[in-house]
Amino acid sequence: MALWQNPDWFDAGKRREQLDDHIAATGKASFGIRTFQENEKVRAVMHHFNRVAPKYDFMNSLLSLGIQHVWKRAAMRMLDIQPGDAVLDVCGGTGDLAILAAKRAGAGGRVVVYDINWRMLTTGRPKIDRLAQKNNVHYVQGDAERISFPDATFDAAMVGFGIRNLTHLKRGFAEMHRVLKPGGKLLCLEFSRPTNPVFRGFYDFYSFNIMPLLGALITGSAESYACLPETIRMFPLPEELAEMLARIGFDRVRHASFTNGIAVAHVGVKSSAARV
Ligand SMILES: C[S@@+](CC[C@H](N)C(=O)[O-])C[C@H]1O[C@@H](n2cnc3c(N)ncnc32)[C@H](O)[C@@H]1O
Repeated sequence: MALWQNPDWFDAGKRREQLDDHIAATGKASFGIRTFQENEKVRAVMHHFNRVAPKYDFMNSLLSLGIQHVWKRAAMRMLDIQPGDAVLDVCGGTGDLAILAAKRAGAGGRVVVYDINWRMLTTGRPKIDRLAQKNNVHYVQGDAERISFPDATFDAAMVGFGIRNLTHLKRGFAEMHRVLKPGGKLLCLEFSRPTNPVFRGFYDFYSFNIMPLLGALITGSAESYACLPETIRMFPLPEELAEMLARIGFDRVRHASFTNGIAVAHVGVKSSAARV
């Protein structure tokens, strides 16, 4: 029994309905349990992040009990950024991954935090300003479905807990593929379904009772924090995502699960031209 309406984990068929082809065919896209016209979802996502931006970092650390930082560091090790790399942080928000990347890329590196929401970017700015490499970090406001950089610009492109919010998931990955140099590396860190059914039961209870309650108490919006677990339950499972990335044109795709699969990091290398 959940205080907040609790959609079950989607089955394979319903998960496929969240993907580009079905959305194009129906003209409808969902953000959590709410359905929008295909071209209206992006506005709902903007509104959502405008509302959560001021407390975004605090809530993330609270709701994950700080573990999100462990996941982000582990994912960054998988991406294996080299000194001097040019790195794009898609849906970069308040810049946690960008900070880790900037440290690894060092003095000769360049990191772009790319996000559609200026409020999220500015909320993260004081953290980035404390970095020794702060002058190597740049901010660009833009849509991940139409990345405003030329082809083959970056050595690495990453997206942390953001790709789930796009209307067209495959288009987002194809755009990351496009802006990578041949041989460039992709990282996608996203929430997923815990593998152990007992643990999943606790996680479901926590997600639809505790999280919206804390959201209501701290940010004044239970809805924003119910939307988060809803979208997670609709997202492709790790094997499905790996297959999608391979089809788009990434080679050597592999993934690692963290905390019983609550979060999963996929990495891959740009090989051939993108196929969407
Ligand atoms: C959950 S936050 C993740 C922030 C950060 N990457 C992290 O790991 O903490 C998702 C971010 O995706 C951004 N976003 C959502 N839709 C987007 C789009 N179409 N293009 C670019 N950014 C988008 C939001 O504004 C938000 O900052």
